[in-house]
Parts: sequence; structure tokens; C-alpha cells
Amino acid sequence: MPRKMKGKDNDMGKVAIYPGSFDPLTYGHIDIVERALEIFDKVIVAIASNAEKRSLFTVGERLEMVKTIFKDTPNVIVDSFKGLLVDYVAKTNAKVILRGLRATSDFEYEFHMASMNRSLNTHLDTLFMMTSKDYFFVSSRTIKEVASLGGAVEGLVPDLVVRRLKEKFKLPVTKKKQIGWDD
Ligand code: PNS
Repeated sequence: MPRKMKGKDNDMGKVAIYPGSFDPLTYGHIDIVERALEIFDKVIVAIASNAEKRSLFTVGERLEMVKTIFKDTPNVIVDSFKGLLVDYVAKTNAKVILRGLRATSDFEYEFHMASMNRSLNTHLDTLFMMTSKDYFFVSSRTIKEVASLGGAVEGLVPDLVVRRLKEKFKLPVTKKKQIGWDD
């Protein structure tokens, strides 16, 4: 449930909302959060609970994973929201929606979403950060597909997420699969 920041928190400085499905969280997402903390005083990672989108992990599972991963990062708040993002943002101190851009293929979807959000709330801006080169090819969708087929996703998602994916897909905990001359 979004919380209006109270008391001292009202003076908490620049706050950005980083919304997404995070199904699951990847190192690409973490990279964006870490770089955003260089610009903003707080980043709220807002996990969308979107009934229309079929997710692998429940909102509760995603919240638990993301909270655990950021437990030692005090300037990151992890929350979930239902309904319109602009309504959620209005209940916080954030003025900026933060999104990562991997490639031009992301642009159209992001442009539509940012334009719609701006039309719903003209005081809101969306800030895009380019994904770091190491994570350009990483998306939650491909991570799920690769993991479901037994491929290695270590190094692309945190270890906790690797374990949860293996539990979901009922896969044994194995060493990273590598293709070499001996295969
Ligand atoms: O990680 P995703 O799935 O690309 O994130 C999309 C998300 C959750 C940011 C977007 O679907 C969203 O904001 N959903 C909430 C509903 C909403 O406000 N829709 C209007 C935006 S066009």
C-alpha cells in the first residue's frame, strides 16, 4: 500500500519511483537502481500487481525477493501497487518515474507509456536511463524462458532469484552450463 511520506520524510529530497513487473528482478534492474541513487535521494521500487499480466511469481514472492535483495540499501524502498501508476505516484513524494531503456525496440512502448502517464498527470515526468552494456540483452521475459528450459542465468540475476527460478521450474540446483570443446 503506498504511503504518503510523513514528518521528517517530507523533507527527504529527490525521490524517484521505479515501477515495473520485476517478474523477476534482474541485474539490469539493480544497475538502474544503483545508478539512480547517484541522482536521487530515494528510489521507490514499485512492483505492479497487474491482474491482466500473467506473472510467474506472485506479488508477495516478488516483494520478498526484491526486499531481501535491497535490505542493506537504506535509500531504496520496496513496495507494490495496484491500479494506475499515476495514482500510486500521487500518494508519494516522487515527481519522477524512472525507467530503463535497453534498445530502440523498447522505445515505442516506453514512449507510449510515458506520454499516457504525462497526459494523466501533467506534473509527472519520466526519466529514462540507458541500461549498462553488460545487461542490454537481459529481460525478465528471456530470463524466465532460459531458466524454464534449464539454461544458466547465473550472473544475470541475483543468486536468490536463481534459486527461486529453480524452485518454480522444479529444476535441480546445478553448476552453470557452459558450452566448450568437450560438449
Ligand atoms: O516491467 P514492465 O512490465 O514493463 O512494467 C510496466 C508497468 C508496470 C510500469 C506498467 O504496466 C504500469 O505502469 N502499470 C500500471 C497500470 C498503469 O498505470 N497503466 C497505464 C500506463 S500506460
